[in-house]
Amino acid sequence: MFYSTVCTFLAIYISVFYSHSDGNILYAEDTLAEKYGKVIYSSLLFRHGERTAANSYPTDPYPLSIWKEGTGQLTKRGKNQAYELGKWFRERYKNTLLREGYRYDLLRAESSDVDRTLMSGELVLAGAYPPTKEEMWSDDDLIWQPIALHTVPSSYDNKIGSSAICDRYQYETQLLNEISKLQNLYMDQLDVFQYVEDHSGEYFNSNDIYSAYDSIWNIYDCLFIQNSHNFTLPKWTKKVFPEPLRTVSSFHFILDVFTTEMKRLRTGPLLNNMIEDMKNKISSPEFNQTIHFYSGHDITIAPFLFSLGIYNSIAPPYSAAVIVELREKDYNYFVTILYRNSSQTPPYLLVPSACGEICTLNKFIEITKPLIPENWQEECQINFSNRLQNLSTSDILVLLFAVATTVIAALVVIRICLERRRKEYNPF
Ligand SMILES: *[C@@H]1O[C@H](CO)[C@@H](O)[C@H](O)[C@H]1NC(C)=O
Ligand SMILES: *[C@@H]1O[C@H](CO)[C@@H](O)[C@H](O)[C@H]1NC(C)=O
Ligand SMILES: *[C@@H]1O[C@H](CO)[C@@H](O)[C@H](O)[C@H]1NC(C)=O
Ligand SMILES: *[C@@H]1O[C@H](CO)[C@@H](O)[C@H](O)[C@H]1NC(C)=O
Repeated sequence: MFYSTVCTFLAIYISVFYSHSDGNILYAEDTLAEKYGKVIYSSLLFRHGERTAANSYPTDPYPLSIWKEGTGQLTKRGKNQAYELGKWFRERYKNTLLREGYRYDLLRAESSDVDRTLMSGELVLAGAYPPTKEEMWSDDDLIWQPIALHTVPSSYDNKIGSSAICDRYQYETQLLNEISKLQNLYMDQLDVFQYVEDHSGEYFNSNDIYSAYDSIWNIYDCLFIQNSHNFTLPKWTKKVFPEPLRTVSSFHFILDVFTTEMKRLRTGPLLNNMIEDMKNKISSPEFNQTIHFYSGHDITIAPFLFSLGIYNSIAPPYSAAVIVELREKDYNYFVTILYRNSSQTPPYLLVPSACGEICTLNKFIEITKPLIPENWQEECQINFSNRLQNLSTSDILVLLFAVATTVIAALVVIRICLERRRKEYNPF
């Protein structure tokens, strides 16, 4: 009797203790499993945690040197955000994809080659794969085990950081200047650009809409970070910060993938990787992998969502995560996309409108097909015939002049050759 009471108390204590230890992890349960089946593969694309400022502007009273962690580096809060996200993944998949604990062939983790994404990736993995009792390896009782995190040099990264050079993409950013809808938008917002230019000392090139929005975003981002660290912002900012500056500058995320060609070059490689993984999972018994982590940036997440037509136009917060889940129910496959943009609310189910109520895997593949280049390298080359179609009058004049000069030069050369030949054949 005594023992059974003690045992009951112990059981209650243990369950309270454990539920308490997970108590700060909210809304991790899979509420879609009943309807669309269990998750058999998950791609997790997340943004790094809070960082220090990465850029400044000419009249900025706070030099970048005041950040003792360095510029663009994770803060302590940022580390907690990434670690918390990892624990949320563990909680969500502890009975499914993460049941078997860590095994090298069950996951792949990749990051852009930037300190804050590499570090956030490590923290997410630390939260998702705490060593089990058997996996403990350190004499220091360290509740951590190393997990492989892959990266490629920035100049090769066309998937997460989008830092690989792509001439065609650069060219597409210039074509944005020709789109009247964008010209009108820019004119509508010109007073904000002008006001910020006058006070920040930053120059916005009105002939280059893409770079103008990029530059004004950098100023907003800088003010946002200073403000969230309780710095007193300069008086002039009161008129525009946070609004309308936030809304105006956030448009730069959409400009990143404004045209279909930009979507292909920018999000195609990442989408392709996710889809290939899902196909492999279904068709290849040797493909043991069940989770793919991508540690990236706001400029990875927003363009990805916008390309799928499910972006809410709000800059992705720190540690925001897009979770692309492949589900199986009675041999039917579904793809569900969740957006976890806060630890305090349940993740949002985002469904591309072309899918209807929910995406079947086949439908998802079909609607993303136009977004995936067959050969990214090749498509990145500037297409001369496209360029010809977009020539301006002055370009044409220059081209005509070049052609005329070449023809005249050729005629002169031919003439000289003929003269020589005549002389050579003349025996006298
Ligand atoms: C900023 O101020 C708020 C409110 O006083 C406080 O809760 C927060 O911890 C401060 N943040 C920093 C980074 O000091
Ligand atoms: C995949 O898992 C199976 C079963 O556990 C195992 O036999 C096989 O070696 C694994 N494949 C790889 C590449 O590790
Ligand atoms: C998260 O996304 C939802 C749905 O788009 C939106 O209503 C909400 O404001 C977003 N929250 C944050 C913090 O971005
Ligand atoms: C170049 O442009 C033409 C016409 O728009 C198109 O048919 C062709 O496929 C393009 N080539 C590449 C490599 O994109």
